[in-house]
Amino acid sequence: MSTCPVRRPARGASIPPPCFRIFTMTRTYSFDPADPELRVDPYPRFRWLRDNDPVHWSDLGFWVVTGYEDARDVVRAEVFGQGDFVANIALFYEPGFDVLAHSSYRWLSEVFVMRDPPDHTRLRKLVVQALDARRITAMRPRIAAITEQLLDELEPRGSMDVIHDFAYRLPTRVMCDMLGIAAHEVSEETLGKLNQAIADSFIVFETRALAPAELAHADAQIDFLTDYFDGIFEQRRREPRDDLTTALVNARDGNARLSREELSTVVIGLFGAGFETTAHMIGNGLLTLQRFPEQWELLCREPALARQAVEEILRYESSLQATYRTALEDTVIRGTPIRKGQRVLAILSAGNRDPAVLPDAETFDIRRAPHKPLSFGGGIHFCVGAELARAEGEVAFTALTRRLPQLRVDTRDPAWRAGFLFRGLERLQARW
Ligand code: HEM
Repeated sequence: MSTCPVRRPARGASIPPPCFRIFTMTRTYSFDPADPELRVDPYPRFRWLRDNDPVHWSDLGFWVVTGYEDARDVVRAEVFGQGDFVANIALFYEPGFDVLAHSSYRWLSEVFVMRDPPDHTRLRKLVVQALDARRITAMRPRIAAITEQLLDELEPRGSMDVIHDFAYRLPTRVMCDMLGIAAHEVSEETLGKLNQAIADSFIVFETRALAPAELAHADAQIDFLTDYFDGIFEQRRREPRDDLTTALVNARDGNARLSREELSTVVIGLFGAGFETTAHMIGNGLLTLQRFPEQWELLCREPALARQAVEEILRYESSLQATYRTALEDTVIRGTPIRKGQRVLAILSAGNRDPAVLPDAETFDIRRAPHKPLSFGGGIHFCVGAELARAEGEVAFTALTRRLPQLRVDTRDPAWRAGFLFRGLERLQARW
């Protein structure tokens, strides 16, 4: 579509400074994921868009939807898919940019969340087979044991950085456990390197041009992860075990197995998808519970609310804010024509606070009646790790409130990390 309904005279010109809590924007606003105000508090902007421009054209070349029903329909409808990967990424760069010359983008192009049927269907089926309900149920006591071990180590200290000391370590150890990488086989140093490599390379999910240094670093980190996991697969081929890695090596769909490249792509994808999102769910959750101390106290008194609390945390302050789709055919959202090939950013976390579908949507309430937040997406790409993430959150918050009810975090000026799609904290100091 060549004509855009919304134009911006100069970047950010019409946007008031952050101190204006009553958010007023003019129709000249254009959504930019790199806007620093989104990092501090994205919700006033989402609210404005939902109320004033629910199908918004960003001058960066994509549509943005913020209403619950629109975001849900975009992730579910068959008319939207992932489309042409190279064209979608090339959109952010100068003409002539060679997307697939970069190992991080090559990797991303193979990750099944970025693919359409039939490839997506085949790969997802194999992974779901290996990440089935039996394996998640079997993992619960292990998640509890890992959580208790971490807190045994941390409790006597009287303080911690929630993100690095606890939130990053829990899902990493859980994923290693599921993959069958025993604690004695991987040092804390290697775990730290794996975490860092995931965090650095997942920058390729961000919907913007990366600086050459960022991209070179992401490439090097993906190469490191590929080598690491290739080594593990080699071992499992020689010595199969009862673990997710062996299950993936053996997973079959008729005669189809995962190819060697697909195996490491899938495992890095699972490791990464299950790490940053879950870690930041814990960090965002603890911050939010402490911002509303009566909710923290309620959870301390009634630990049975932990599962509902996790659902509410994921709704209110989700660690994955949004996802993209491409129109596979010409279509329409609320009467606005969307042309084949155009991209749409569905802001799931904005939909989760849509008052049209949820009363008091801006209120954080762990007693909220069950509803259907968009935190885990929908349709064919619905999160395969949703049950695992919920289990980790439930166990973590139950243990934290039971063992450290007097825990307090500094809620002023939280250190939100850079990047739009993944929302989380760089650090969160707690003491008890
Ligand atoms: C709080 C934690 C998590 C959140 C908020 C989250 C969120 C999401 C969302 C919104 C999607 C859909 C993306 C789209 O439609 O484009 C997704 C997909 C996915 N998630 Fe999660 N996730 C979490 C944890 C996990 C875990 C623990 C794992 C694995 C162990 C995982 C693996 C995946 C995979 C593989 C997909 C792609 C599914 C597909 O394309 O069919 N996620 N996740």
